[in-house]
Amino acid sequence: MKKHYLPASLALAALLAGMAANRGEAGSLTLKDAYKNDFLIGAAINQSQFYEQDARGVPIIEAQFNSTTPENILKWESVHPEPDKYAFDAPDQYVAFGEKHHMFIIGHTLVWHNQTPRWVFQDTNGDPVTRDVLLQRMHDHISTVMGRYKGRIKGWDVVNEALNENGTMRKSKWETIIGDDYIEKAFQFAHEADPDAQLHYNDYSLEDEPKRNGAIALITKLKSEGIPITAIGLQCHVKMSRPTPEQEDATISAFAALGVKVMITELDVDVVPATQRNRTADIQANAQATAGANEFTNGLPEVQQEALAKRYAELFRVFVKHRADISRVTFWGVTDGDSWLNTRGRVDYPLLFDRAGKPKPAFDAVIQEATPQ
Ligand code: XIL
Repeated sequence: MKKHYLPASLALAALLAGMAANRGEAGSLTLKDAYKNDFLIGAAINQSQFYEQDARGVPIIEAQFNSTTPENILKWESVHPEPDKYAFDAPDQYVAFGEKHHMFIIGHTLVWHNQTPRWVFQDTNGDPVTRDVLLQRMHDHISTVMGRYKGRIKGWDVVNEALNENGTMRKSKWETIIGDDYIEKAFQFAHEADPDAQLHYNDYSLEDEPKRNGAIALITKLKSEGIPITAIGLQCHVKMSRPTPEQEDATISAFAALGVKVMITELDVDVVPATQRNRTADIQANAQATAGANEFTNGLPEVQQEALAKRYAELFRVFVKHRADISRVTFWGVTDGDSWLNTRGRVDYPLLFDRAGKPKPAFDAVIQEATPQ
């Protein structure tokens, strides 16, 4: 009797093993392996992950990703909170974690209008500093932070989010005090600090035409001036229906044509409908626009789960099409529970692993899109 049923149970075991293989469980195909002929697969990680306290997240990071970005700890307010005080404990640990796991280590970010202390732009009386003083501060910050990790952090988001939605220069304190050439200066200082590091300009909503055109003009200008810019970072904080795959495709083509690498630097898919139209990934505007919108507090229904898988598949189809120009795709977080989109009581499901650390249908969909080996 038993013997009679053995082949069937073996077949079942093989079937289950096959399913497990697709779901990224023990010993099976992982994101970084599936995509090893396409591009690096990264994740932004937080402090409890690189200090190895997050028992759920760390094994996923080790198994699935071959690049990493620090979610917050290399931003100015964290690493350089006071004029004469640098806080290197957490960044040191982040870099050690990345090296331990043989990951391609990214630095994020040197010059940004957010998460930068007020003192940077002020003198001791609280008055705005001069162009020269601010340039000196920018120089010292970049050379100290980049210099410490020279040769170890391989790529840096040098300037983050310098453009308005209409493609003009954002009137940040950097821009108003120094002038438009603060961008050139930041790249020059970065190149001096580590001549081998890849240097990126990083921004959101570059799929929207006016902003994309602004970025194209900016990069064209930097290239013509001989500024050492290696890559454009498309943050890709996307919604379910926009940008369209066609917009993503056209955006990647347009930047690749300028002779820079394209990186997808902060990918996530917001599945919670906004109460108001929010076309931006700007942190403050987004938090306001989406506060209160909270459809799926008790879990993501099957229909949305499948729709998310389809959304991820259509995005990765575009990325794989451009595999010659794309060097890395990084997710902004590991599990849904980590995501920055869960603010003000929102419960979101933007990533490939659920709150228990299990791969979602979107994980399978992404694996399916990789170039077969
Ligand atoms: C976000 C982090 O994920 C949050 O933890 C933090 O409170 C705010 O910043 N664009 C960027 C990232 O370049 O640095 C932002 O990260 C998300 C938007």
